[in-house]
Amino acid sequence: MTDELLQPGRSAVITGAASGIGLAAAKRFASLGLNVCLADLGGRNLDDAVAQTARWSRFDARVIALPTDVADIDALRRLHDGVRAAFGDINLLMNNAAVNDKGGPWTDVAAWRRTLGVNLWGVINGLQTFVPGMIAQKTRAAIVNTGSKQGITTPPGNAAYNVSKAGVKVVTEQLAHELRQAGATRVSAHLLIPGFTFTRMTLPTMTSQSPLPPGAWLADQVVDLLVQGLESDQFYILCPDDQTTPEMDRRRMQWAADDVIKGRPALSRWHADHAADFRRHMDAKDEG
Ligand SMILES: NC(=O)c1ccc[n+]([C@@H]2O[C@H](COP(=O)([O-])OP(=O)(O)OC[C@H]3O[C@@H](n4cnc5c(N)ncnc54)[C@H](O)[C@@H]3O)[C@@H](O)[C@H]2O)c1
Repeated sequence: MTDELLQPGRSAVITGAASGIGLAAAKRFASLGLNVCLADLGGRNLDDAVAQTARWSRFDARVIALPTDVADIDALRRLHDGVRAAFGDINLLMNNAAVNDKGGPWTDVAAWRRTLGVNLWGVINGLQTFVPGMIAQKTRAAIVNTGSKQGITTPPGNAAYNVSKAGVKVVTEQLAHELRQAGATRVSAHLLIPGFTFTRMTLPTMTSQSPLPPGAWLADQVVDLLVQGLESDQFYILCPDDQTTPEMDRRRMQWAADDVIKGRPALSRWHADHAADFRRHMDAKDEG
């Protein structure tokens, strides 16, 4: 189904495209000949990003930027109308913008509001404004929402971010199901799940000279898997990194699900009484 998606002349809109994974995706899509709209908070980062992306453009692909605060649904409506006016059909929407403000279960209420406003409402706002038109158009369309392993295994340390990314996972799963139920066979949904990736989110002071931190992937490696995942119509596009293998991810997710099934304490992976069992689970040889 995805074969018609990443073709010259198609179009993509990416939120959070001024930096990191969003910018790497914008460059890749432009290099494949897609018309690309970069949406991010307005300012120098976005101006630089659109200039960089334009240098990757092939097959006369157009590259534009529309300053957008994804937490504001009216801004998303303007973005939608602007992209349709510029490109016509919208073939790929990547809801990717996020912040990593820290909010604990009973602290930092302002950070909770910001985090959920951008990371979760930003995605919901994108779906509400773009999906009806993507269903109605005659050409292939895909929605990629950027989630996180922190929305699946929910490690301690930033409850607000984890909640936002757990919400992104759930809304993307519901989207895939509802598209199927509605018979919208030309529209697909995908959850991109990056691992530890070297971006301003993980190193706010990063520059082009900063060395790659041990264990991290480059944003381009995440985009390699995104393109493969779209081409093979994967829903969960789960990325490893240089410290976490796919097998380690599978075992961690299994352990998290087993907390519920086996009646262990919440987040038992980080509970002293379960540390030894968790280590054994990670080290166990595959059965069969
Ligand atoms: N870097 C990682 O290790 C990692 C891991 C898992 C998931 N992710 C996810 O990947 C996505 C991209 O993050 P990144 O690592 O490239 O970080 P980044 O900080 O480089 O990029 C995030 C972009 O979102 C933009 N943004 C923030 N608030 C916005 C708003 N209100 N409206 C519009 N744009 C806004 C920022 O300006 C920035 O350009 C995010 O959804 C993040 O949660 C990243």
